[in-house]
Amino acid sequence: MRPGKRTVAEMVVVGVLAAGALIGLSLVIDWFPTSAATQAGPVDTLWYVLLAVSIPVFVLVALVVVYAVRLFRVRPGQEMEDGPPIHGNTTLEVIWTAIPAMLIAGLVVYAYLVLHDIEKAPAKGQEMHVHVIAEQFSWHFEYRGAGGKRVRSTQLYLPKDRSVKFDIDAKDVLHDFWVPNFRIKLDAVPGITTHYRVTPNRVGAYPVVCAELCGLGHSFMRSTVHVLEPRQFDQWLANGGSFKAVAQGRAGGAPDGKTLFANGNGTSTACGSCHTLADAGTTGSVGPDLDKALADKDAKFILESIVHPNSNIAKGYPANVMPGDFSKTLSPAELNALVNYLSKVTKK
Ligand code: CUA
Repeated sequence: MRPGKRTVAEMVVVGVLAAGALIGLSLVIDWFPTSAATQAGPVDTLWYVLLAVSIPVFVLVALVVVYAVRLFRVRPGQEMEDGPPIHGNTTLEVIWTAIPAMLIAGLVVYAYLVLHDIEKAPAKGQEMHVHVIAEQFSWHFEYRGAGGKRVRSTQLYLPKDRSVKFDIDAKDVLHDFWVPNFRIKLDAVPGITTHYRVTPNRVGAYPVVCAELCGLGHSFMRSTVHVLEPRQFDQWLANGGSFKAVAQGRAGGAPDGKTLFANGNGTSTACGSCHTLADAGTTGSVGPDLDKALADKDAKFILESIVHPNSNIAKGYPANVMPGDFSKTLSPAELNALVNYLSKVTKK
């Protein structure tokens, strides 16, 4: 039995509607975290193009399967019958080989061009190198400081708007260096050095994630990348990879609450790696959004929440996630600066 003209027309209508609806839905879904590098835009566009091309193919295949099951099902009394012998259909085979081949070739060329474009090297001498060292289960980042002095850090610090080339090594097993907000990730392979480039373009703190199952501690193999204003970054590097002296002020001045919030003091965890705060440009979502959570709170509440985080847990957030040692990792002057800063910027 051949499907009638009406069935084919119905399939076309259902297919077009379903593909349209799914493509619409795929464009509405917020797939990605905030983009924080110039490479992110073209990668996101590539993703949307791939979706828009694959959805109709998926709908076509699913539709043919569903209709075939419905039209050609065995009816009562037909259990012992066999279908007509078929020896293939050359025209159909040419079509269903040629069209997917052209589609895939087109997408391969497009993806290659995107990759080629985002990996382009900047002018000579315009590039900064960061040595990324992965091991079970931590990250280390090495920089060349003033006079070639080596600066080592467990958190990644990058200047905004400067092209960075990562030289990625693994000490033990396979890991994978991934900053979701940059959109690029690459395996860290024992014995070889792998590379990629990004140009961060948004100040803030973002997660560094290991994206290759590397052992029991894989899910804890995380760090934070701090994208800083270039001037701030240069200070950090010149200071041997620390903000301690910077936050406390070079000439013994008062510590700077905003710097402490975004970057910590070198010992303390940076608030901005978990909290969103518009004024500091941070977008963390592990803890509450402070622009909202602190809007109607006074300095006393803010201090208590920093020093004893479990005393007042915001709705929907678990206890024991925020470090409970800020009274030790921050000096009284730093706590004071942080509280004053937060009181000031969260009031409308
Ligand atoms: Cu390292 Cu997973």
